[in-house]
Amino acid sequence: MIRVTCLVGARPNFIKSAPLLRAMRSRASRIRCRLVHSGQHYDYVMSQTFFDELGLPAPRINLGVGSGSHAEQTGKIMTACERVFRRERPDWVVVLGDVNSTLAGALAAAKLHIPVAHVEAGLRSFNKRMPEEINRLLVDHVSELLFCPTRQAVENLKAEGIRRGVHRVGDVMYDAVRQYLALARRRSTILRTLGLAPRTYALATVHRAENTETPERLAAILSGLSRSGERVILPLHPRTWKVLRRLGRRVVSMPRLRLIPPVSYLDMLMLEQHARVIVTDSGGVQKEALFFRVPCLTVRDETEWVETVESGWNELVGADAGRIGEALTRLRRRGYRPPWHTRSISRQPFGDGHASERIVELLLRG
Ligand code: UD1
Ligand code: UDP
Repeated sequence: MIRVTCLVGARPNFIKSAPLLRAMRSRASRIRCRLVHSGQHYDYVMSQTFFDELGLPAPRINLGVGSGSHAEQTGKIMTACERVFRRERPDWVVVLGDVNSTLAGALAAAKLHIPVAHVEAGLRSFNKRMPEEINRLLVDHVSELLFCPTRQAVENLKAEGIRRGVHRVGDVMYDAVRQYLALARRRSTILRTLGLAPRTYALATVHRAENTETPERLAAILSGLSRSGERVILPLHPRTWKVLRRLGRRVVSMPRLRLIPPVSYLDMLMLEQHARVIVTDSGGVQKEALFFRVPCLTVRDETEWVETVESGWNELVGADAGRIGEALTRLRRRGYRPPWHTRSISRQPFGDGHASERIVELLLRG
């Protein structure tokens, strides 16, 4: 029997952990997992909704750290994790993705000589101004097991001299979509609630620091969307709401933009699947757009999910109102087929939907 502590803290962590915890439960005679929640995200719509909807076990402990500056938040999570890890001495600490909780958990464990397993290892944007890039770099360099979603991720690690413990397993977010889509179709009423018919709207999300800390970038994205003639549904992260409140009515009253609170995962899957185009700066949403074969515009200057761009289904348009508007017009003219060269995706670049089972087997092998 091996004992694993899995640390989660932010919205994408909860989603990524769902298929993984399910795979661990199916091997309950050989692996016992304790879930620890850092408290990085705490609003119902950013945290508890995922536990309720995805059937996640209640975390054994919620460290209740909350928001703060990077150092403050990371430091508090590290301190609290150190206490828990020292007491529990798990065989593995599993961390997911690239948020501050991921970094804090990995550092705390590594310094206690508890081996770290990183799910979603090897991703790189090559932009160190992104807090997530710093987190990824550091976590990968202290991890013993590195579970890569893609071939490119393995290559990125190789280029940094990391070869030991590296496994290409596929993407747990693809596992999650496959596992929860049928449930979403049965349970979600979001299209009816919002009065939306399939393929009549664009779905957009914006929350990256680079797009919210510079209000001009956020204003440019919203203005590009608003002037595009698309009806746009925007489930907005609390961070973005805060900036919008500062920007005031000028933005909030933009015609054709429908700003709504963050939605649950099942609702998000339905909104994504039936959108005619997705505009986002989220890592996870870019991939989900590809899973559903919905064309995506990414309002960033680079992406770590290069496969989405190479496949032709994702285009980088920056935070540029003109480029966003032009790309949407081009798409409309082509009946919402990607206007750029589209390579047919013969093989799913994100695995076969069984990444989580592979991760569990590799943890068992040590
Ligand atoms: C974090 C991750 C980002 C990820 C995102 C997923 C880091 C450095 N960034 O960004 O990679 O894409 O989560 O959603 O870890 N807030 C609330 N309620 C909440 C949570 C946050 O109001 O439940 C507000 C607070 O004002 C907070 C701000 O959002 O200061 C930012 O939250 P934080 O967790 O620091 O970063 P995210 O922007 O959520
Ligand atoms: N998501 C959600 N509700 C929302 C917005 C996003 O459930 O209102 C889901 C989305 O489908 C994806 C994940 O959250 O699975 C992505 O998380 P986020 O965009 O917060 O972070 P990132 O992937 O950029 O780190």
